[in-house]
Amino acid sequence: MTLSVKHILGTQGLSREDIETILDTADSFKEISTRPIKKVPTLRGRTVINLFFEPSTRTRTSFEIAGKRLSADVINISGSTSSAVKGENLIDSARNLEAMNPDILVVRHESSGAPALLTQFVNCPIINAGDGAHEHPTQALLDLMTIREKKGSLAGLKVAIVGDIMHSRVCRSNIHAMQTLGMQVTVVGPPTMIPVEISRMGVKVSYNLEESIRDVDVIMMLRVQLERQNQFHLATLREYSNLFCLTSERLKKARQDVLIVHPGPVNRGIEIALDVMEGPRSVILNQVTNGVAVRMALMYLLLGGSDEDLN
Ligand code: CP
Repeated sequence: MTLSVKHILGTQGLSREDIETILDTADSFKEISTRPIKKVPTLRGRTVINLFFEPSTRTRTSFEIAGKRLSADVINISGSTSSAVKGENLIDSARNLEAMNPDILVVRHESSGAPALLTQFVNCPIINAGDGAHEHPTQALLDLMTIREKKGSLAGLKVAIVGDIMHSRVCRSNIHAMQTLGMQVTVVGPPTMIPVEISRMGVKVSYNLEESIRDVDVIMMLRVQLERQNQFHLATLREYSNLFCLTSERLKKARQDVLIVHPGPVNRGIEIALDVMEGPRSVILNQVTNGVAVRMALMYLLLGGSDEDLN
């Protein structure tokens, strides 16, 4: 069981076989997290460094839990408490961490391409934990794991990705992976939040939520990235919510078996209503659970895992 790539910088460039290997491995690792003793010796003696220059609850915690459940030593560094605040640049930070011989470096950074840049300066595998508006590959993989778990298979499924497409690295990673797997994607939102070049990625574009959710298997609601709305992409949040909040009334237009996913964190009542978020079609917390399994699978596969280590 190996991947065709040394680093996980995006889902762009991952083959169908890579994605299926990651999802199958994650499926087999999921059970470990339900045991009374949630630990296997698979990565004993290995060192994982989580280097986060942007805030995170789900991704950082699940990388830490994933590493610890595989018995790796996990070190967490946040930008705000690192020597970055004293002026050290990203490359120098990475080279200094590399000098301590880590086995995997997990990087979240506000600049698109930062994890890819670091591959030139370190020897160990790098996992992109979200870079600017570029990619968030582990989020897309856990989304796919959750959808496959609930729907049984992925090829041919129709997905509406709704909201702040402009700023969404989750959207971009999902589009690449979903297209590789033969899924059909429509992006939905106000014109000011959908970059014109998105259609070059081979997706349909819609500005009407109710029409676009009528016949899909999955609705992926995206967070309105309030911290990045510095160019007046929104008139008002109320206007956005009036047109694009997924409410139970709007959900009546969708199929009975539609799945609702959201990467989190959620702006309650802005992109999704509370009763929908906590309702029977929502698998938002299943996504979080699967995030641990996907990250365990990636660490294991990047470090050359073999079938024997799985038990
Ligand atoms: N989905 C996601 O990336 O959440 P965090 O920002 O909390 O890691």
